[in-house]
Amino acid sequence: MPPAPTVVRTLPSLRRALERLRARRATVALVPTMGALHEGHLALVRQAKKRASRVIVSIFVNPTQFAPHEDFGSYPRTWKADLAKLAEAKADLIWRPDVSTMYPRDFATRISTEGPAMADLEDRFRPHFFSGVTTVVGKLFIQCRPDIALFGQKDYQQLKVVTRMAADLDLGVKIIGVPIVRERDGLAMSSRNVYLSNEQRARAPALYRTLKDAAGRLRNGDHLEAVMSDGARTIEDAGFSLDYFEARHAETLSPAGSLKDGPVRLLVAAKIGDTRLIDNLGV
Ligand code: PAJ
Repeated sequence: MPPAPTVVRTLPSLRRALERLRARRATVALVPTMGALHEGHLALVRQAKKRASRVIVSIFVNPTQFAPHEDFGSYPRTWKADLAKLAEAKADLIWRPDVSTMYPRDFATRISTEGPAMADLEDRFRPHFFSGVTTVVGKLFIQCRPDIALFGQKDYQQLKVVTRMAADLDLGVKIIGVPIVRERDGLAMSSRNVYLSNEQRARAPALYRTLKDAAGRLRNGDHLEAVMSDGARTIEDAGFSLDYFEARHAETLSPAGSLKDGPVRLLVAAKIGDTRLIDNLGV
């Protein structure tokens, strides 16, 4: 058994642990998560290990990024398994605050961002989401003062929003994006995949299949509008209710009319039953 990482749950103990961690000018990486860890999260930890001498993983199911009708209450919480995985991955420190530590009773501050947070993708369907993410990630950066922080490309718009925020607020942290880890059949790993019934799970890889087909057709020179409308139909035919299937500039997230508009990223969000899945792919 690898040695268990240090687990801290209060701000004073986090401060003490960080002092120890920073000794001998260690470089510190932070991997923010909401727990229910899978191979996607562990890929971030492994990248962090390669790029920094100390790795902090935060586990906090952040209430401010869930709308009242969303799944904050039922979000999977798997602390014991998470701890075992982080010990195996040799994380150094786990920051696992309570809601009352992150948001004391009279908490009244929000970080709100524009630019990529208003790209009309996730923000159209989850208007509360990014200010919850930026507020908690901003707090995590201030609490942990990492040199680098790692985020998955799985949440592509989130990666762009956090990168913008860190630069705009001079937070002194370098944001690193890590490629999406997928199941063997292509489904992007997600903590929410456990919500899928067997029948839904069998249909779920249609999202990635459609992204791949569309990217291939675009590379072959097919007309973007036709490719996107065919893709949208394929996703709906697979039993999804589609929120969006869009071609965007990979950096600015502005709508792309053709591959000539720069590096293009295809992004999709769709519900199967009550479960909302997102995915994306570079063309
Ligand atoms: P969570 O969904 O737990 O994801 C934590 C990190 O893991 C995010 O950066 C996410 O993009 C990455 N990730 C998830 N699935 C992945 C996959 N299949 N491949 C690669 N990376 C993957 O995203 C959040 O938590 C929260 O919004 C958070 C940033 C922690 C703020 O609360």
